[in-house]
Amino acid sequence: MSGNVTLKSEMPAVTASGLDNVVAAETALSHVDGEAGRLIVAGYDVEELVKAHDFEGAVAALWAAAGLEPAPSAAEIRNALGRAREAAFGYIPALLSSKRHETVTEGLRTGLSMLADEPGEDAADRDIPAHIRAPVSALGAAAVITAALVRAEAGKSPVAPDRHAGHAEDFIRILRDEAPAAAEVEALNAYMVTVADHGMNASTFTARVIASTKAGTISAVVGALCALKGPLHGGAPGPVLDMLDEIGTRENIEPWLERKIAGGARLMGFGHRVYRVRDPRADVFNKAVTILTNGNERVRFAREVELAALKALRAAKPGHRIDTNMEYYTAVLLEALGIPRDAVTSVFAMARIAGWTAHVMEQERVGRLIRPQSRYVGHWPEGEAAA
Ligand code: ACO
Repeated sequence: MSGNVTLKSEMPAVTASGLDNVVAAETALSHVDGEAGRLIVAGYDVEELVKAHDFEGAVAALWAAAGLEPAPSAAEIRNALGRAREAAFGYIPALLSSKRHETVTEGLRTGLSMLADEPGEDAADRDIPAHIRAPVSALGAAAVITAALVRAEAGKSPVAPDRHAGHAEDFIRILRDEAPAAAEVEALNAYMVTVADHGMNASTFTARVIASTKAGTISAVVGALCALKGPLHGGAPGPVLDMLDEIGTRENIEPWLERKIAGGARLMGFGHRVYRVRDPRADVFNKAVTILTNGNERVRFAREVELAALKALRAAKPGHRIDTNMEYYTAVLLEALGIPRDAVTSVFAMARIAGWTAHVMEQERVGRLIRPQSRYVGHWPEGEAAA
């Protein structure tokens, strides 16, 4: 360095175009061990977190791990979430009448951006403690918006939330206008707890970058949702179901897979930047969907396609360790819960907002702007040669 000016020759090389293996933050929220296929969330192995907590409990555990003070209990989260769902229901008509979206996830993006970064003391959510009002508003709104958008696509009017119900139970009820079975509530809770946080994935990193600018919780959540919706991240489950439908029959599994892989296509629901073995969340969902459906024909077919895809991928890409990621069984589980494929990414976001907001809390405490550098490889002004 010469003074404050970086010379052309001193610019560091790009470590990896996808920032592979770059450690971008310290976190007490979750840890992904890609070699062991282990996920730790708020001090629990993910399989144990699912046994110990429903969604509200997992939110409380994550926000406590993020250092939120005073840390709300699961019961306080449940109460606050009920109020947030009620508050969100108030602006559903405005969202539905705008109709500027093509998909449920785009509608969710619009709906969340209607929330204030610093919610005021309006009648609807003034009973939510101020220090959790923004993150709880985002969580509550995501469920109400998703349910209303799905119903609107089917030409049905929105159903009012019940603030005394559990979050997962109320979501299924306002989606269908019918009380869910206990097994369904349990399966959705298992799903939402399992995906609540997952290390420094693309959407979480996005949330932290936005939080580092002090833009506010809702802005960070909206930005994170934009990152989540891509098919290389949270947008894969819809295409997984399309794949199962397109394959259709057992006889077609192998020829279909071979054709796709030979044509250079990526099989949705397989491969991961960090996991080199099976994603532990795929097992949680496989178990949940097997219990929920009693291992019905669709689940057996999905399992057969999975095994054949792993065999085909290993043969075609011997140098890579590609295994099943959680999106594969997310698709099958959420389908069994009657969630349309267009809404699967939004349901993922409904849960992941717990993690995004926890990361926002952590990042705001760090208090330092995230601002990396780039290496200039363009033309230099005439007469100046690149070093
Ligand atoms: N199908 C076919 N080939 C694959 C797949 C796949 N699903 N995943 C990786 N590969 C191949 C690549 O083509 C590449 O092969 P090549 O070297 O011959 O070109 C090799 O494996 C390495 O792939 P990378 O892209 O370097 O691996 P990366 O770490 O970037 O991949 C990713 C991670 C993006 C998730 C990738 O596996 C993928 O596209 N999977 C399908 C989409 C998907 O399931 N996304 C959900 C991820 S889970 C989540 O975000 C919640």
